[in-house]
Amino acid sequence: MKIAIGCDHAGFKLKQHILKKLGSKYQFIDVGTFTEDSTDYPDYAVKVVEAILGGEAEVGVLICGTGIGMCITANKYRGIYAALVYSDETAMLAKRHNNANVICLGGRMVDFDDAARWLELWLGERFEGGRHLRRINKIKELEERVCGQGFK
Ligand code: RB5
Repeated sequence: MKIAIGCDHAGFKLKQHILKKLGSKYQFIDVGTFTEDSTDYPDYAVKVVEAILGGEAEVGVLICGTGIGMCITANKYRGIYAALVYSDETAMLAKRHNNANVICLGGRMVDFDDAARWLELWLGERFEGGRHLRRINKIKELEERVCGQGFK
């Protein structure tokens, strides 16, 4: 499975930690940023999202200081379901209940080893469907009704 990963300056150290720890186990597409110089998180959210919607990656990881800006940006796209993850349970439920295809992490908020574990927990889960599918379908119906044109 290919995982697109992107960050801003505040998420750079955590991105590097994840790549070092998990880079030999999973195939990451690193879209940057590549330094700790100040940059703008939406630029990297867009790169990760477009890698997913363009078919290069199956899922994505976005890291900024809090994870919040990345999450807001990614969720502007039709077909992207980005979840802010901050515990083992939110990591697992993001997949089981929400079928999130992107997780967002707060590089200034979390322990780096915890964050790497959350990423693996999320990857290891499966969407439960059932009543959760009904809710996801309501989100999709909203996308049709209120969102603009999708990607491309
Ligand atoms: C950058 O200072 C910070 O605002 C950004 O990384 C992020 O936390 C925004 O949501």
